[in-house]
Amino acid sequence: MNRRNFLKVVGATAAVVAIQPSSISQTLYANNGDLYKRYEKVQLVDKAGQPIVASALKKETSYFFMYPYNGTPALLVDLGEPTEKEVKLTSEDGTEYIFPGGVGKNSSIVAVSAICPHQLTHPKPSDSFFNYVPKNGKTMAYKSGGVFVCSSHLSAYDPKQGAKRVSGPAPQGLANIILEVDDNDHIWAVGVLGPDKFHDYFKAFKPEFKAIYGNWRKAKKLVKVQTPTMLLSEYCKEIIQY
Ligand code: FES
Repeated sequence: MNRRNFLKVVGATAAVVAIQPSSISQTLYANNGDLYKRYEKVQLVDKAGQPIVASALKKETSYFFMYPYNGTPALLVDLGEPTEKEVKLTSEDGTEYIFPGGVGKNSSIVAVSAICPHQLTHPKPSDSFFNYVPKNGKTMAYKSGGVFVCSSHLSAYDPKQGAKRVSGPAPQGLANIILEVDDNDHIWAVGVLGPDKFHDYFKAFKPEFKAIYGNWRKAKKLVKVQTPTMLLSEYCKEIIQY
């Protein structure tokens, strides 16, 4: 194992943060920052600005939010059962990192960066080829449901194993959005773990950002304080899934 490239995320005492929720039950830090990046601590809220309550999430349903930038989409799902813990993963360039596990009372809540590492497919207001397929659902991308699927070229990712790629042409897994759930059962995004595609994505979709934000640079601004969170089906006019 290349220790310099070996990322470990472990429990720790809460660090000083810009916003202090009443209490943070799960705080994480990386002792090697190669594939863990801490961003703004941002609360997931509904359209009225009220906190999203972890235990009130619909099970196996995709929720959409932007993190860590205004224009980088992410999906939140309560899988309905615990994820695996301390899952060792490897990025395309061989860097190792460890997915700590889901959050919430049942360790079943996960979030991922919804940018496919194959050719950067991502949810847009018009449509999404990217979604979570429930366990009893069917997909052409994998032998079973219970996976994130990019229907552009049928890559599947296992959310219980830190969004590891389990089929399709994608060269690596999805980046995980690291979440914390506080004592009020409210959800916070605090960082990104794993190989993100933000650089390529910002480069590739300037016209799209210009159309949505008026100025593509707005898409690159960090999300701060709160991020509106809604069902993916509310954000996208159409969800296309094979
Ligand atoms: S862009 Fe997602 S599988 Fe090709």
